[in-house]
Amino acid sequence: MRLPFLFVTRARGSVLRLQLRQFLSPDPALWKPQSSTALRFTSTQLSKEDMSFYITTPIFYVNASPHLGHLYSAVIADCLHRYKVLQGFNSKFATGTDEHGLKIQQAAEAAGKDPLTFCTDVSARFKHLFSSCSISYTDYIRTTQQRHRQAVEHFWSVLQNKGLIYKGSYEGWYSTQDESFLTPSQVSDALDSSGKEIKVSLESGHKVEWMKEENYMFRLSAFRTQLLDWLRGNPRAVQPERFHQAVLQWLQEDLPDLSVSRQRSRLQWGIQVPGDAEQTIYVWLDALVNYLTVAGYPDKHDRWWHVAHHVIGKDILKFHAIYWPAFLLGAGLPLPQVVHVHSHWTVEGRKMSKSLGNVVDPLERSQMFTTDGMRYFLLRQGVPDSDCDYTDDKVIKVLNAELTDSLGGLLNRCTAPALNPAQIYPSFCPQSFPREQGGRAVVEDYHMLDAVKGLPAVVEVHYESLDVYKALEAISACVRQTNGFVQRHTPWKLDMRDSKDQRWLDTIIHVSLECLRIYGTLLQPIVPEISDRLLSRLSVQPSERSWAALNFLPRYGGMDCPFEGRALGSDSGVLFSRLESQKGDKQKPKKAKRSANLK
Ligand code: MSP
Repeated sequence: MRLPFLFVTRARGSVLRLQLRQFLSPDPALWKPQSSTALRFTSTQLSKEDMSFYITTPIFYVNASPHLGHLYSAVIADCLHRYKVLQGFNSKFATGTDEHGLKIQQAAEAAGKDPLTFCTDVSARFKHLFSSCSISYTDYIRTTQQRHRQAVEHFWSVLQNKGLIYKGSYEGWYSTQDESFLTPSQVSDALDSSGKEIKVSLESGHKVEWMKEENYMFRLSAFRTQLLDWLRGNPRAVQPERFHQAVLQWLQEDLPDLSVSRQRSRLQWGIQVPGDAEQTIYVWLDALVNYLTVAGYPDKHDRWWHVAHHVIGKDILKFHAIYWPAFLLGAGLPLPQVVHVHSHWTVEGRKMSKSLGNVVDPLERSQMFTTDGMRYFLLRQGVPDSDCDYTDDKVIKVLNAELTDSLGGLLNRCTAPALNPAQIYPSFCPQSFPREQGGRAVVEDYHMLDAVKGLPAVVEVHYESLDVYKALEAISACVRQTNGFVQRHTPWKLDMRDSKDQRWLDTIIHVSLECLRIYGTLLQPIVPEISDRLLSRLSVQPSERSWAALNFLPRYGGMDCPFEGRALGSDSGVLFSRLESQKGDKQKPKKAKRSANLK
């Protein structure tokens, strides 16, 4: 039998890792509310720098409006940021827009707008989406900002002064859509919509063109060994594992030097190469430096820079796990701690694309299903390892089952005036639910307590690795167990005039509210608004919602419970309203609706 205990260890560098040993003891007598004490103790021991965390999303291209995949990247990063804040970290969370490059230049031309006005409009749409979806970023960067230009120019000069950039010429394939250079083996033949033979990128399917240009090259080939050492020495640097392996595999192949500028005559919309008015800096070099800009580079940036974590989609892995670390190594800067990679959303089995007309508008969907509903769905169904398919029906099923019925139903039961006429957090009676059998609790109830007691440790592990769906699976299973607990004891059949029955009823409600308090606290990074309503109904104050407050059922361990006897908060209605299937009304006006969506 082992005690639940929090260990605080120093991992590589200055990262702080909180490792909760899995709670394995079925013996409730061993319960002690140590975790919060341990956490509080350690936070006072750690310096301000140790408690820093820096998380980024990719910066989004402004050539088109945001889609579901963009929101997904942002929600994952937001979840990690909120979780770190709950743990007491000072977390910086950056997102923003990637506004330079040929693709944006062409999109602005096609829209008949000057590029900056065009970028400002689309960037504002991303900002609006993120504010509407509770993306709690602390910095919103646009690559057209002055602070970013300074960072990029400085970064370039450092690389150049170290002899890592030389004037050369590039001849090969380029995909404007991906803003990427490709080797002949990464290209294949295809036909365009008019039947014309074209070449496309094998990976993205986007059209590529042959280009031959004088430009600046970065000595990428010189970094292969260092990149391999970094990846081999840090097996968790790129997560999940499958993507780590993919990068190692790429490094076995040819790693030619990289063109890092374009001729000004072709690309005007970008940052000029310092000291060369004929050349514009390659948009990916420009874009990647955004992470440093937000950290404060070229001024003081260490505090944030050595705790940098990037969230990215699988399509931009090469840029983040090869080019970016090579640039950083070249500039003599530390490498990101973790590159968290996620897979993509498809729609009815197909890639989301404008030409297929199946792009899911995340703003429209979050209005339909609520912001928290969309956040819950994306994180519950999104699996980092593999692509996931989006359908409205799936959203409705998942949300109705888990938020309306299971979680909402449980809250409803425990706060309904019929069972809780005093509208309080009732008392726990140790004789009704003793540590040893003999009261009115049955063996399944003890298992339920064990599961909920161990839940924060389980959730912590999954939040840390961004396997959020596993955390939600575990929470969901516990919610079901608590519902089972209430169902099993049919508290509505107890006789409130009988004092023993009344004490048992109070105990059932007390235990269930304690479970709900744990679920509400753990769910804050996922569904901030729903958690707030749940915790407010339970009268849990904002200062009582941190990770350190996850001290389940202290009365069972013989400790005081600050909530016992407290009046419940006001009833703000159902936790999550049932969603109706869209099928009926989608069938007929489908065409009209669809075309309205094709902005
Ligand atoms: N501007 C670059 C990133 C530069 S970061 C220094 C870019 N932008 S993007 O707008 O095309 O993509 C932004 C993010 O959205 C990427 O992480 C990408 O993987 C993600 N997604 C794009 N389509 C997606 C899906 N269909 N599903 C999930 N995420 C997707 O790349």
